[in-house]
Amino acid sequence: MSSTMPQIEAPQIVACTVSRDVQNFDLLIEDMEDALGESWGDLSFAEALSFFGQPESQSLELIALAVDATDEENLVLMGEIITQAKAQGLKVILIAEDMSPAALHSLLRQGADEFVPYPLPEGELSAAIDRLRADPEETLTPAPHAPQLKSGTNKDGALIVVHGLAGGTGATTMAVNLAWELANADKKHPPKVCILDLDLQFGSIATFLDLPRREVVYDMLSETETMDEESFGQALLTYEDRLHVLTAPPEILPLDIITSEDVKRVLDVARNQFDYVIVDMPSTLVQWTETVLSNAHVYFAMLELDMRCAQNALRFKRALQSEELPVEKLRYVLNRAPKFTDLNAKSRVKRMAESLGLSIDVHLPDGGKQVTQANDHGTPLSVSAPKSPLRREFAKLAASIHDLKNDEAKAA
Ligand SMILES: Nc1ncnc2c1ncn2[C@@H]1O[C@H](COP(=O)(O)OP(=O)(O)OP(=O)(O)O)[C@@H](O)[C@H]1O
Ligand SMILES: [Mg+2]
Repeated sequence: MSSTMPQIEAPQIVACTVSRDVQNFDLLIEDMEDALGESWGDLSFAEALSFFGQPESQSLELIALAVDATDEENLVLMGEIITQAKAQGLKVILIAEDMSPAALHSLLRQGADEFVPYPLPEGELSAAIDRLRADPEETLTPAPHAPQLKSGTNKDGALIVVHGLAGGTGATTMAVNLAWELANADKKHPPKVCILDLDLQFGSIATFLDLPRREVVYDMLSETETMDEESFGQALLTYEDRLHVLTAPPEILPLDIITSEDVKRVLDVARNQFDYVIVDMPSTLVQWTETVLSNAHVYFAMLELDMRCAQNALRFKRALQSEELPVEKLRYVLNRAPKFTDLNAKSRVKRMAESLGLSIDVHLPDGGKQVTQANDHGTPLSVSAPKSPLRREFAKLAASIHDLKNDEAKAA
């Protein structure tokens, strides 16, 4: 076997090994030949990612991802390969040598279907391939959780936006956890909640909720003119059957690939169907930022206590004011806010707010490693760290938003 792209002339390639170098796994080569004859190829990690999207990959049924201790440094890449393979409807057999239990756990959580240790026990690879082939149904339905939306529903949902004023300020963490707490805000009459990842390039909601990024999202976004509840619904996934999610598309796209009109149509259909629509925005200001801001009920601007955030906040406010946009919808959120016992830092916060001429309405504490762990495991904080002080703040914020909406509904 060559280490280039698999050839698709007869015999048709139905499987591929994916590894740093397949020569490190010579027993795997033998077993693949025994199980599949000539109908398999081998790919490096980088080749695999570019191969999945191509027409030549259509005939593939499964990949055998072979990894050893050295690859632990590249867990994120391995995870991405599994996610992309699953998004294509491929089965994934994980073959691992000397991997730590934590690394194995994380790869299996990403959706690998079978696990076989290396060196391969006699007959195990063929047995795994047979099992996967006997279970073709799942392969044909890469979106088992695609929800059904009702046409014509008119909920007039509240639009809540989160926008990080600098990279890494915690905007996605807030969007995901606020959405999840809102979805759980009323046990008897759970509100319908949808979260939209409009950070089209590096949106990480899919990662934080352990969901695949699918091509159908791109299809929906590029054809909003003909979009209806059904096609919008098909682009959504559900998390734990309670939160509807529009992830970012699989490929990195230019932010201006969607227009203000596209965004308005998506927001309208989402607000018709859901009580709450949460939007995660890119940090960069784009042509359609204005559309989102003018339709928002509340627009959270996320910052931290440092100079870059202070300066960005000032520039952000000025940019909106010069366009006469509704700055009164902005609510500034300070993430990793100092503890109230830290008087020195507290006075820095006060000075920052004064000098910027804005009020900081929400203070979120540092939640430590638990937060990144929850995000990496693809679970909201209330699932993996319910006692986290950060989670408590999200729950409080969700409760106050939900109370406000109920009061308004009663008054109307
Ligand atoms: N309050 C917090 N306490 C501890 N860790 C946090 C907190 N908020 C966010 N984090 C961690 O900081 C990192 C960045 O968070 P996140 O991805 O939510 O930020 P972002 O503003 O969406 O970033 P990006 O600019 O990439 O979109 C993540 O690893 C997250 O787990
Ligand atoms: Mg983000």
